[in-house]
Amino acid sequence: MKRTKVFVALLFILSFVFVGAACAAEGPETWIVGFSQIGAESEWRNANTFSVQHAIGEDPTFLLVFSDAQQKQENQIKALRSFIARGVDVIAFTALVETGYGPVLQEAKDAGIPVIMIDRDVAVEDRHLRLTIMGSDFVEEGRKAANWLAGYLKEKGLDDGATQVNIVELQGTVGSAPAIERKQGFEEIMNASHPNWAIVRSQTGNFTRSEGKAVMEAFLKAERNIDVLYAHNDDMALGAIQAIEEAGLKPGVDIIIIGVDAVKGAFAEILAGRMNVTVECSP
Ligand code: AHR
Repeated sequence: MKRTKVFVALLFILSFVFVGAACAAEGPETWIVGFSQIGAESEWRNANTFSVQHAIGEDPTFLLVFSDAQQKQENQIKALRSFIARGVDVIAFTALVETGYGPVLQEAKDAGIPVIMIDRDVAVEDRHLRLTIMGSDFVEEGRKAANWLAGYLKEKGLDDGATQVNIVELQGTVGSAPAIERKQGFEEIMNASHPNWAIVRSQTGNFTRSEGKAVMEAFLKAERNIDVLYAHNDDMALGAIQAIEEAGLKPGVDIIIIGVDAVKGAFAEILAGRMNVTVECSP
C-alpha cells in the first residue's frame, strides 16, 4: 500500500516536470522581433515595411521593435547592436549592401539570437552567421527583363541581330544584392544570345525616383541614340520617364522602358503607354 502511494506521488511530480519542460521548449509567450529596415526609398520598400508591420502586428504572440536606417549602414549596425543589448528573441533585417555586417552578425550569433534576412541578403562569406532568408531571386529578375526585351524587339521587328541596340542602365544602390544580381542576370542573357546589344551608359540612381530622373537627364545629354532603358526598379524608371518627356521624347515609344518591382505607379504608366514592362518582385 505504502509502495503504491509513493509510486502515485512520483507520477504526479513527473507529470509536472514533463509539462514544464514542454512549455519551456515552446519558447516565450511573447516573441520580441527586432526589425531593421533600410529606409523608404521606393514604393516597393514602403509596401515591404507595411507587409512586415502588419504580419507581426496582427499576431498577438509577437512584439515588433522597428528601426528605420534611413539608407545608412551605420544606423543599421547600431540598430542591430541595440536589439542584441535588449535581448530580443529574433532579429529580422534587410541588408542595405552585401558587405560589412560580419562582426555584428557574429555578436548576434554569440548572444544566441537567430537572424532572419528579409529581401536583401548579406555576402556569401557571412551567410553562415544568419539563419535563413526570405527574399526574391534577383538574378532571375534580370534574366526575365532581358528575355522580355528579346521577345519584344523580335515582335516589333526592331532587332536584326546585327545593328547595335543601345541600352542605358539605371543601377540600384551600389553594392546591394538587387543591383549586383539584376545586372548579372540581364548581362548573362545579353552576352550569351545578343552580341549586338550594348549597355552604352550605366550609373546608379540609388533606387529613387529623383536620382533616376537626374541620371536619365545626364544620359540623354550624353547619348544621341538610346533605344532601351533598363532600370533596376520602377521608381527610377518613373523618374526617367519624366526626364525623357522633358527632353521632348516619347517614353515607351522612342525609348523602350523596362522596370522591376511591379508597383502601382508602373502599371499606371504602362496603361498610359509611357512604360513597356515591369518584372514582378513581391514585397
Ligand atoms: O531590394 C529590393 C529593391 O529595393 C526593390 O526592387 C527596390 O524598389 C527597393 O528599393
